[in-house]
Amino acid sequence: MIFQKEPVITIDGASGTGKGTVSQVLASRLGWKFLDSGALYRVLALAAQKHGVVLDNEKALKVLGEHLDVQFIAQESEISKIILEGEDVTDVIRTEKIGNAASIVAALPAVRASLLSRQRAFRDVPGLVADGRDMGTVVFPDAELKIFLIASPEERALRRYNQLKERGISVTLSDLIKELRERDRRDQERAVAPLKPAEDAVRIDTDHLSVEQVVERILFEIKQKKAFPATSFPITIEFVEMGIAE
Ligand code: DC
Repeated sequence: MIFQKEPVITIDGASGTGKGTVSQVLASRLGWKFLDSGALYRVLALAAQKHGVVLDNEKALKVLGEHLDVQFIAQESEISKIILEGEDVTDVIRTEKIGNAASIVAALPAVRASLLSRQRAFRDVPGLVADGRDMGTVVFPDAELKIFLIASPEERALRRYNQLKERGISVTLSDLIKELRERDRRDQERAVAPLKPAEDAVRIDTDHLSVEQVVERILFEIKQKKAFPATSFPITIEFVEMGIAE
């Protein structure tokens, strides 16, 4: 088989399905690059706030998206640092307020278009794990493996609650469930790139599964697919054991 481009694994799903953590762990296990596309929408929402751009001004947001001065600084086995216009915004973008604003700007077609090439530029050797809502349907439709994570609203709200609590961000569970529902509705009903599984996506229900179990399940799918060249896996030990690499 001839591989024209670096391989991609897409991991899509609603917020709280655990896809962020799963994607990062998987990328680090494989030794691959990682794209957190939600962070891009969050950074854009923050930039809009900073520059006084209202969230329905599609034209201005598009220009902001095209010229977004953002850097993702990868760190060994840690969340990458995110720098907006020279300022560390890694934690600032994780609030529910910015998450909701991101969901609003993400519904605008011109905004999505303005961030498309920036997302595709993350595709690099030896491979990319891309986390988002439309990674398998729009951004990387030719991905070798597409995963769609599912979880019940209660489980998702609880995970989010614990995550935020860990970061010292105070929220109530009931507010979180309400916001989660509202955000789901917006992400699923938008006209462009709505949250939905690609036709060829493997669906995994993550309720009652740990991060490690979900990652193992995806590694199993990688093995099943046999769509990846052995050279895609710099960390080969497990793959030799699994029969993927020689
Ligand atoms: O994954 P997240 O919570 O960081 O994403 C924040 C918002 O960005 C989410 O509500 C919808 C939007 N988003 C999107 O529309 N498409 C993506 N690929 C990723 C995120």
